Amino acid sequence: MNIKAAWRATSCLLLLGISSCAWDQMESTFDCSISPVQVELLETSETACGTANGAFSLGVSGGESPYTFSSEAGASAEGLFENIGAGSYTVQVTDVNGCSDEITVEVLNSDGVNLDNILTTDAGCQTSQGTVEITASGGTEPYLYSIDGGNTQNSNTFSGLAGGTHNISIEDQEGCEITTSVKLTSGVKFSTVEGIIKNRCTSCHGSSASPSFGSFEEISNKASRIMARTSAGTMPPSGSLPQSEIDAIACWVNDGALSN
Ligand code: HEC
Repeated sequence: MNIKAAWRATSCLLLLGISSCAWDQMESTFDCSISPVQVELLETSETACGTANGAFSLGVSGGESPYTFSSEAGASAEGLFENIGAGSYTVQVTDVNGCSDEITVEVLNSDGVNLDNILTTDAGCQTSQGTVEITASGGTEPYLYSIDGGNTQNSNTFSGLAGGTHNISIEDQEGCEITTSVKLTSGVKFSTVEGIIKNRCTSCHGSSASPSFGSFEEISNKASRIMARTSAGTMPPSGSLPQSEIDAIACWVNDGALSN
């Protein structure tokens, strides 16, 4: 709940008493689209091998100050991150109303190995068929690769990976390291989910029950509720969907409810 909604909930309790406060009122959120928070990269400086002296700074427009910036490299009130090692950092900027934006920043090794590219294949739904192929350059070869804190290997390819975020580390012969993360999706298509919803849900939703699930926007806006209700077996009301359909919905939602 953001601050304005929290304030509304508090004033509702104070002025009217608990019984007149509808839960959906307390859950209502600030309209972030009026002045979207937008973050941009102002400057980066490279880090020297093994010394973690890299830095980057971010600027923000829109929304309402104060902003907070948080990432794997810690938190910042001004958007300045210093004394960091080579790698990629995802920073989330949040304004006073709880509206946010995200940016990924690469900090390079000035004298060591750097990441050029990562090729991925989908993990599949409830299966571990994902692969990652890393291309790096600079520093002293051969490189050592590891994923999710596991043993290092000489091969730049990992397979048998489950969906979700994986942390990758590449190290050269001088001990210079660069880290990054990659998200593997299941690859479930929206058309699959749309088909399930047409079959199982639209007889009520859009006519006798709301919300309506008639378009990609309507379905993606409610993605987390659709996943919650089908996974819990409480929608459709007549009983659970087959497990394969529950899984397909959950995989698509966890991939980010994409129009893929
Ligand atoms: C027989 C009619 C019927 C069918 C079929 C049906 N629903 Fe519902 N749905 C309802 C009714 C009635 C409500 C409102 C009451 C409630 O929330 O239980 C509702 C509410 C919901 C809500 C909103 C409430 C919340 O939890 O956010 C979601 C989401 C939802 N249904 C998802 C689905 C999905 C997904 C399907 C198909 C897999 C589905 N429903 C199939 C009747 C139906």
